[in-house]
Amino acid sequence: MSYPHQIKSLEQYNEAYKKSIENPEEFWGEIAENFTWKKKWDKVSNWNFKEPNIKWFEGGKLNITENCIDRHLAERGEQPAIIWEPNNPEEKTRIVTYNRLHKRVCQVAQMLTNLGVKKGDRVCIYMGMIPELTYAVLGCARIGAIHSVIFGGFSAQSIADRLEDASAEYIITCDGAYRGNKDIPLKSVIDDALIGNKTVKKVIVYTRTRTPVSMIKNRDLWWEDEMEQAEEQVEKNGKVSFPAVEMDSEDPLFILYTSGSTGKPKGVVHSTAGYMVWANYTFVNVFQYQPGQVHFCTADIGWITGHSYIVYGPLSAGGTSLMFEGIPTWPDAGRFWEIVEKYKVDVLYTAPTAIRSLMAYGLDFVNNKDLSSLKVLGTVGEPINEEAWQWYFKNIGKEKCPIVDTWWQTETGGIMISNLAGVTPHKPAHATLPLPGVNPCLVDENGVEILGNSVSGNLCIKQPWPGIIRTTYNDHERCRTTYFSTYENMYFTGDGCLRDADGNYRITGRVDDVLNVSGHRIGTAEVENAINMHSGVVESAVVGYPHDIKGQGIYAYVIYDNKHTADENLTKQDIIQTVSRIIGAIAKPDKIQFVSGLPKTRSGKIMRRILRKIAEGETSNLGDTTTLLDPNVVDEIKNGALL
Ligand code: WTA
Repeated sequence: MSYPHQIKSLEQYNEAYKKSIENPEEFWGEIAENFTWKKKWDKVSNWNFKEPNIKWFEGGKLNITENCIDRHLAERGEQPAIIWEPNNPEEKTRIVTYNRLHKRVCQVAQMLTNLGVKKGDRVCIYMGMIPELTYAVLGCARIGAIHSVIFGGFSAQSIADRLEDASAEYIITCDGAYRGNKDIPLKSVIDDALIGNKTVKKVIVYTRTRTPVSMIKNRDLWWEDEMEQAEEQVEKNGKVSFPAVEMDSEDPLFILYTSGSTGKPKGVVHSTAGYMVWANYTFVNVFQYQPGQVHFCTADIGWITGHSYIVYGPLSAGGTSLMFEGIPTWPDAGRFWEIVEKYKVDVLYTAPTAIRSLMAYGLDFVNNKDLSSLKVLGTVGEPINEEAWQWYFKNIGKEKCPIVDTWWQTETGGIMISNLAGVTPHKPAHATLPLPGVNPCLVDENGVEILGNSVSGNLCIKQPWPGIIRTTYNDHERCRTTYFSTYENMYFTGDGCLRDADGNYRITGRVDDVLNVSGHRIGTAEVENAINMHSGVVESAVVGYPHDIKGQGIYAYVIYDNKHTADENLTKQDIIQTVSRIIGAIAKPDKIQFVSGLPKTRSGKIMRRILRKIAEGETSNLGDTTTLLDPNVVDEIKNGALL
C-alpha cells in the first residue's frame, strides 16, 4: 500500500493547502478515492454552521472495518496490525496479524449479533488496554453499532451517567485491568454503575486478571464462551467471514464523552466516512508514516487520541500499531524506552505530561537504551513547554527526529494544527501550521477577526473539515450553543492562541472553565458539583494552577460547615474521596483550601479571576476588587493560600 495523498515537500504542502481551502470539494473528492466504498458519494460536502448541519460524502456507502482490515488482507494478511505489550514486562507479548484481527473482529461482530445487537444500538466499552478492546471497537463498527468507550479511570457514577445519556443496551468489559502495580476491578465498577440502570440488557466480561466477579444470570456473559460459539459460525472450511454492514457516510460511528465548561460531559458524535478520511489523512501526513513502520501512540483508547491514532488512523493505513497496557513509570521510568528498543519503534506519539514526568527521573533510564529506530516524535493534549520540548528533542530524538506538536480536540476527530514531520519545519512549543482543510482564525471577544501576524486571540475555524463533530448525542442544541453560537459562522475551539511573525500557531490553553490536567479535560463546574455533594460542604470554587508535571493542577476553595470534624486533613481526604466516587481519580483536587467566603460580585457571581491569581501565587496584582460584595474575604483567602 502506498499513500498517494501523502504530502512530500513544503511546496506540495502549500499547494495542497491552497487547493483545500479554495476548492474543498475537488480536494476531498480526490482524497476519498483512496478508500474502499460500497457505493461512491453523490456530494462531497454540504453544510451550514448555523444549525449546525454538516455532511461529508453524502450518499456514500461503506464500512470502516473493510477499510481498516479487509482491504489489507491480500497484500499484508500476515503483517502485524497490532503489537501488544503487556503491563508486566515478564508476560508474553502478543502480535496480532491482519488475518488474526480480521478473524477476531468477525467473531465479535457475530457474537454481538447473536446477543441481539443491531445497527445503531449503543455499546459501552469499559476495558483495559488489551487487544480485545480493539476487537470490541471494530466489532461494533462492523455491524454498525455505535461504540462509546469509557476510560478506565472513570467512576461508577460517571459510567452510570454516560450509560443513561446514550441509553446503552450493551456493555463490554473485563473482570479487571492491570496498570502498573495496581489491579483495577472494572467489572465491579460496572456492577455499581448498573444499580438502578434500566436500559442495559447484556454485559460481556473478558477475563484479564481473573479477579473474582459477580455474574448475574441472564445479564452477564463470559466473552470467552460467546466468542467460542461465534468462532464456529464465522469460520467455514478454513475461511473466515462476517459481512460488514453497509453504512451511510453520515451514520454515527461512535460517541465519546468529553467535559465542557458547564453541566455534565457531553457525547461527541463522529460520523463514519468523514471521520475515517480525516483520521487516515492526518495520520499519513503528520507522522509521514511509511508502510512497515511501528507506530507507538501511548494514549489510552478511552480518549480520542487512542481512537484516531491507535485504532482508526494506523489500521486504515495498513500500518502496525503498538498498544501498551501499562504506564510509563512501572516497573521503572525506562518502560517507554525499553519498548522503543524492543520493537524498533519508528514513531512515538505521547503527551507533554509523560515527557515532563520522565524528565524528572533523569537520563539513566534513557541512555542505556537503543533509541536509534526512532524517526518521528509527537506530542498531544496540552501545550508543551520549551524545556520539555528540548529534552525530548535532544535526549529521545538525539536531535535527528522532527517533533510534531499536534493540536486538536475530541470534537475535531483528528489533528488540526501541526507541522508535518520532516516536511514542514517544527518550532519548539508551537503547533505551527494548519493541515490542509483547516481554516483557522483568531477573533477578539466581539467575534471580530484579528488579521495579520504577531497577534493573539480566541481560536476559531471558518470551514468544516471531514472529521468535525456532527452533534452531541441526544442534544443537538447543546452542540450548537457550545461550538457554533459564540461566534457567527465559525466553530469555536475554546482555546486561546498566538500567531507568530511567520504565521505559526501556538496554543496557549483554554479560555473557558475547562482544566487540562495531565492532558485530561476536566470541567471546573463538574469538579465543583462533585465537591458540593460532600456532606458539610456549603459551596466551592475550582480553578487551575500551573503544575510542573501535570501542566495544570486542581485548586479547590471550599466553604465547609466545620461542626462535623476537627481534623482538617481528614476532611480534605474525605472530600477527595467523594470526588473520586462521583467523577473518578483523574479529577481529584491537588489542593483544598478552606475559606469562610468566596469573592463574589453583588449579583452573586464568583470572581474566578481573583481565585486563579491567588492559586498561581500572585498576591499583589489582583485587579479591581471594589465591585466585590465583601472585599475582606480576599485578604483571608490570600493569607491562607496553599502555595
Ligand atoms: C488541548 C486531545 C496545546 C487544547 C486530542 C484542546 C493542546 C484540548 C494540544 C483538547 C497541543 C490538545 N498544544 N494544547 N498540541 N493538543 N490541546 O479533547 O486545550 O482531550 O482544546 O483532545 O487539549 O483535549 P481533548
